[in-house]
Amino acid sequence: MKYVKNLNVVILAAGKGKRMMSSTPKVLHNIIDKPMIYYVLKEAGKLNPENIYVITGHGRDILKGYLADNFPDVIPVFQEHQLGTGHAVSLLKEYVNENWESVLVLTGDCPLIKSETLKKLVASRQAGNYAGLLVTALLENPFGYGRIIKNQLGEIIRIVEEADATLKEKLIREINPSVYCFDVRALFDNISSLDSNNYQKEYCLTDIIEKFTYKNLKTSTLMIDDSSEILGINDRIGLSVVEKLMRKRINEKFMSAGVTITDPDSTFIGIDVEIENDAAIEPFSFIWGKTIIRKGCVIGPFAQISDCEIGSGTMINSAVIKNAKIGKNNNIGPYSYIRPGTVTNENVKVGGFCEVKKSIVGRNSKIPHLSYIGDSEIGENVNIGASSVTCNYDGFRKNRTVIGDNVFIGSDTMLVPPVRIGKGAIVAAGSVITEDVPDNAMAVARGKQINMPDGATKYRKKKESLK
Ligand code: UD1
Ligand code: CA
Repeated sequence: MKYVKNLNVVILAAGKGKRMMSSTPKVLHNIIDKPMIYYVLKEAGKLNPENIYVITGHGRDILKGYLADNFPDVIPVFQEHQLGTGHAVSLLKEYVNENWESVLVLTGDCPLIKSETLKKLVASRQAGNYAGLLVTALLENPFGYGRIIKNQLGEIIRIVEEADATLKEKLIREINPSVYCFDVRALFDNISSLDSNNYQKEYCLTDIIEKFTYKNLKTSTLMIDDSSEILGINDRIGLSVVEKLMRKRINEKFMSAGVTITDPDSTFIGIDVEIENDAAIEPFSFIWGKTIIRKGCVIGPFAQISDCEIGSGTMINSAVIKNAKIGKNNNIGPYSYIRPGTVTNENVKVGGFCEVKKSIVGRNSKIPHLSYIGDSEIGENVNIGASSVTCNYDGFRKNRTVIGDNVFIGSDTMLVPPVRIGKGAIVAAGSVITEDVPDNAMAVARGKQINMPDGATKYRKKKESLK
């Protein structure tokens, strides 16, 4: 496709984000489960550009680390002193080669921008052979943004910043969201001629439009329909506003695809989550990371699920589940904690106040009440009695418990691994099991009970006599 040819993207992210009042770089503050720059990078990536460059400055090491871990192909470019948006873009000059054609400029704090808008911008610039084409928006309250100044023919001639605007210019409602596409030559032939003769004493990328006008280079604007798409984040209030819009967008995508979301306002679903139709998400649910929810599940209320696959028809009520694979028709909760590395098969029950870590649980097995299962392998049709614990850690290392098919573990059993319970075995309640149990055996490992005749009466009498 033509629009992807010879396209390079630059994302501005060197600023401090002073108003966030934070030691974390602004673009790394989260929207749902991902830093805001993640969304920008993901949308820009959909244009299949040659390269994406991120201008880093404040908190550069943290941002560089994040990019290396999550977007290894993205090239960080260090801007030591934040001399302005024009200066930031000029740093790319040394990366330019003869393949470059279009340069898309975005900011890292504008996560609602959509790839459809960017594709349209890039394609229209090429089609119209513009030196520069920029997105604009009509805002009810344009305060703080650069305003678009047009001539009598309705053509853009320059951009004026809020601080430099006259009273009349401040009334203009068409603003610059900082989403531009440039012809590479027009951009870099003119960028070094920008000066800092303005209120902020910065080299402003916005001033390049006036340079183009002066040189008769073709420039135009593309007005966006939905101005919420260009909302930038400057403080934590803005962060919450954008988060809410992003959540709405994601939730509505799922509802349109046949997922019930009872209360979208209290449902937090990440951008990379997949949910099949006829699943239902109840209020106060957080579904994050690369989670997949299959058909017919009922998730929530009060579920926190990250990086999991949840099989079809499963119910999860008031549970925290991380990095696990849950089978079909499971019944999890209320108040269960399922930790990384756990795999459950079909028809498994994990009930109230149970924790399961790095364990495999076979078909039709049940861990219904107050138990801890860690580093274990549980076969099919197993019942784990209330308050049973695998004592997987001996103070030195983690040891494995293996429980065969059709085993019954009585309540309040301590299984001290490494230990193996053979198929069909029964373990009596209150046992402390330190030795393997053979198939079909019954294991009893507890103190013998003594009943002293009239012992209670004698005890009470003795207490009375001491008064
Ligand atoms: C800028 C635009 C303004 C527009 C607004 C949209 C300029 C001069 N003004 O203003 O017309 O309406 O964005 O949000 O461009 N940055 C760097 N290096 C720098 C300076 C900034 O990387 O030296 C980055 C910032 O981190 C930020 C982006 O560029 O992501 C915009 O900078 P900011 O200072 O927020 O510009 P605004 O005053 O908002
Ligand atoms: Ca800004």
